[in-house]
Amino acid sequence: MTELPIDRITIPVLQSRKAAGEKIVALTAYDYPTAEILDRLSVDLILVGDSAAMVVLGRENTVSLTVDELMHHLKPVARAARRALVVADMPFLSFRLSGEDAVRNAGRFVQEGGAGAVKIEGASPSRLDVVRRLVDAEIPVLGHIGLTPQSILRQGQFKVQGGEAREGARIVREAEALEQAGTFALILECIPREVAAEITRRLTIPTIGIGAGASCDGQILVFHDLVGCSRGTLPKFVRKYAEMDRLIGQAVSAYGGDVRSGKFPDDGHCYHLKPDAARRFRAALKGGRRSGPKKGI
Ligand code: KIV
Repeated sequence: MTELPIDRITIPVLQSRKAAGEKIVALTAYDYPTAEILDRLSVDLILVGDSAAMVVLGRENTVSLTVDELMHHLKPVARAARRALVVADMPFLSFRLSGEDAVRNAGRFVQEGGAGAVKIEGASPSRLDVVRRLVDAEIPVLGHIGLTPQSILRQGQFKVQGGEAREGARIVREAEALEQAGTFALILECIPREVAAEITRRLTIPTIGIGAGASCDGQILVFHDLVGCSRGTLPKFVRKYAEMDRLIGQAVSAYGGDVRSGKFPDDGHCYHLKPDAARRFRAALKGGRRSGPKKGI
C-alpha cells in the first residue's frame, strides 16, 4: 500500500481545523506550475474551479465548461499537489441530468483526474439527492451556496445573495440541508457576513468563504484575482496581493525591446563551439563543399 505523506490534507484533517479554530486556506489553480507553488506554500485546499472557463479560457461565464475541459486542468494540478486536498468543480451539465450521471462524472474526476473530492453548486432538492448519491458512492462533496455562478443564465448577473431577511434565512436552511446530505464542507459565496457567521456557528462542518466575511472557517479566492492578472473589474471581496499584470507587462516590453535592438540574446545566452571543434567545423564545411553534387557532365 502506498504510504501517504504524513501531512497530507485529508477530509478529516480539514474538518479538524474547525474544532481547533485554525483557518483553512484555499485557492483555485488550473495548471501544474501554479499548483506546485500553492502546494509548496501549504495552501490546504486547491480547487480546480469551473472559473477556468472565464479566467484562463476567456469565456463570458462558466456554463459552457465541459467535463473533459475540467479534466484537462485537473490532471496537472493533482499531479503537482502532494499535500493539498484537490477538489474538482463539477461543470454545469455534469450533475444535472441524473444521479447516475453525476456519480459517473465525479468518479472520473477521482479515478482519472486524481481529485480528492468534488464541488457542486446549489442546494435544491434534486441537488441534495445528487450529494447523497455521491456521498453514498464514497465521493466526498464540497457544497457551494450563496452566489452560484452556474445560475447566471437564470439570474442574469453576479450579485450578492441573501441580502433580504427571508433570503438570508433560506441560505441558512440550505446550508443545514447540505450538511445533513453529507457535504464535508461548504463554500459560501458573496453573502452578508452576518448570514455567513450564523451558518458557521450552526454547522459542524467547515465553511469556506469568498465574499462572506471573516467568521468563516476558511477563505478561498481565485488565484488570478489574488495575484492581479485577471481581466475586467474585480469583485469587492477580492484583495489583490500582487500586480502580476504589471510585472508581466514590464518583462514582455523589456524582452521585445531587447530583441528589436539586438541586445538579446547576448554572448552569455549563447552556446559556443570549443576552439578545437570550431576548427573542425570550418574544415567540415570546406570538405562538404568539395564533396557536393557535381554539376553537369
Ligand atoms: O470556480 C471557482 O473558482 C469557484 C470559486 C470561486 C469558489 O467556484
